[in-house]
Amino acid sequence: MIFVTTSHDPTELQIKKAKKLADELGIPYLARKDHPNISETIEGEYCYVVEKSRIVIKSNNLEFFFHPSMAKVRMRNIQKGLKDHLIESLQLTGSETILDTTLGLGTEAILMAAFLDSGKVIGIEGSTPIFVVVRDGLENHMAKENWINTAMKKIQILHADFKQFLRSCPEESYDIVYCDPMFENPVFESSSMNPLRPFAIYDTVNTDDVDQMLRVAKKKIVLKAHAKDSLFRRIPVDRIFGSRRSQVLYGVIEKR
Ligand SMILES: C[S@@+](CC[C@H](N)C(=O)[O-])C[C@H]1O[C@@H](n2cnc3c(N)ncnc32)[C@H](O)[C@@H]1O
Repeated sequence: MIFVTTSHDPTELQIKKAKKLADELGIPYLARKDHPNISETIEGEYCYVVEKSRIVIKSNNLEFFFHPSMAKVRMRNIQKGLKDHLIESLQLTGSETILDTTLGLGTEAILMAAFLDSGKVIGIEGSTPIFVVVRDGLENHMAKENWINTAMKKIQILHADFKQFLRSCPEESYDIVYCDPMFENPVFESSSMNPLRPFAIYDTVNTDDVDQMLRVAKKKIVLKAHAKDSLFRRIPVDRIFGSRRSQVLYGVIEKR
């Protein structure tokens, strides 16, 4: 069963928030005092635990919650003078509207938003559990770093399938379209992606999707893939940014 509960000894506010979420998702709300042992949930089942300042998804073998730690690491590297290949590939002026078709944990959306002044990021996530956790994180997470709090406010999250969403967009409705599908060759070692994997959608990006991204973008599209993935063999791009060491590549197609 998939259900919503709270942490132990919840406040009225937590109970209200948990019941509202259960209503929204059309799943049961169970009072935590009646279900103290969440870790006994069986394979394939999980629950949303509304804690005081975040929502955590828990099951017998995992915990999934929002955290902007990788955005922090990447910004620290940029400040040290290291190149971030995503930021390099985007060439932002600060006023862009970016459609991030695969929001995931929002790490890269936060990083992109940090380089925008008047611009903003619209992030699409198709997985319900990921959407719920990241929507709540973007709304309620209080980072020690002010730049993260400011960046999070520039992100609007939408629950949708990006393939359908793109097809419903008018021509040139965003400056840049970004797409980071799950790698065909996942990098498991020390990956911040690991807790997200059981909930992620593993869609492949095809030529029709890329045509739609190009139709919807005003300036360019950026695609991300692992060097061993088939994406850049199937989809020709104008320029690739990335490092041989990490094998993570960003391919840019400019709008002509
Ligand atoms: C590799 S992760 C993106 C990570 C993200 N760039 C970040 O920095 O956290 C890919 C995400 O895209 C989502 N996704 C995959 N296919 C999708 C689709 N067709 N529509 C919406 N979201 C999709 C997955 O559920 C997953 O959360």
